[in-house]
Amino acid sequence: MQPCRIRWLSAYLGGMDARVLVRCVAAATLAPSLHNSQPWHFRIEGDAVEVYADSLRRLEVLDPTGRELMISVGAAVFTLRAALRGEGYLPGVETFPDAGTPDLVARVFPRDSAKPGAAARELAAAIPRRHTNRRPFSAAVVPAAALDRLREAAAHEGATLTVAGPASRTVIVSLGRTAAERLRRRGGYYAELNRWTRAVPGRRDGIPAAAIGPWDSLERIPMRDFGVIDAQPSRRGERFEAYPTIAVLSTEGDGPPEWLRAGQAMQRVLLVATGLHLATTPVSQPVEIASIREVLSDPRAGRWAQMLIRLGYGAPAPATPRRPLSEVLADG
Ligand SMILES: Cc1cc2nc3c(=O)[nH]c(=O)nc-3n(C[C@H](O)[C@H](O)[C@H](O)COP(=O)(O)O)c2cc1C
Repeated sequence: MQPCRIRWLSAYLGGMDARVLVRCVAAATLAPSLHNSQPWHFRIEGDAVEVYADSLRRLEVLDPTGRELMISVGAAVFTLRAALRGEGYLPGVETFPDAGTPDLVARVFPRDSAKPGAAARELAAAIPRRHTNRRPFSAAVVPAAALDRLREAAAHEGATLTVAGPASRTVIVSLGRTAAERLRRRGGYYAELNRWTRAVPGRRDGIPAAAIGPWDSLERIPMRDFGVIDAQPSRRGERFEAYPTIAVLSTEGDGPPEWLRAGQAMQRVLLVATGLHLATTPVSQPVEIASIREVLSDPRAGRWAQMLIRLGYGAPAPATPRRPLSEVLADG
């Protein structure tokens, strides 16, 4: 891939300042990704941004099929759309536009200019403020109206967000613990975790110690095993919320287009939640074990659980690093 060249910064595309697209790509890199693997790269081609999956950044142990990689890329695609809208353009999207180039996941382009309304401005403003929050949340209940907004956000992207009631919450939490146990027995699990959490000076991917947060001292909420390995400082235990709000994001169907859709829906949900001052944690252990994922899905109806999201109110979480544009953006 050719690195981004400065000439982009001064180019004008059909009346549109190319710097707008560069800014939108920079915003897209702030999307969440599995272990902050940032499995994407971008190319500005004419007045469109092409979004590519970077399969070299797939987590082989956790994500053998690339499902979570595609969800991560979907989150970046949605972020790009939201940023473009915030800049005053109605975004167009073509997904998998070239059958001969399967890594080319989407082409995002300005369709028309239009002043963003309050909701679009709020979504764009949430992009740099959204961070995965792995800390205990307060006991405050998430209002029904907020949950409705999140369900609508998922539906807007063609996915379904189901907020667990008291009984299903207990089941999900216990499935989460079982999934965590099974993952610990999977060969290479800790080595992979170690690779993505090891502190290396100047590192711009992976999860830094500051973002890991404490254990749930009662082991109710299945927080990922970040920080249990040699290179990390020991992780303290704290009491997490007794009645977590957990939502399951699912799609009709289960292949790369649906994973991409799930990623876009997840990021819309996370950004709307951020705008509502909610803290969020994407949780994926239960959907990383096929038999547990099946319990959370309805395979006979063709509905598949793609991600879980924990929601609540908590102290702000820190930002994690991102690779610079010079590494992820190429010009055409
Ligand atoms: C597909 C996917 C799966 C994830 N699974 C988990 C998880 O199981 N536990 C967790 O704490 N964070 C999870 N995350 C959050 C990422 O670790 C996080 O997005 C990444 O470290 C970047 O940090 P940020 O979200 O604060 O920008 C997941 C994110 C994605 C996109």
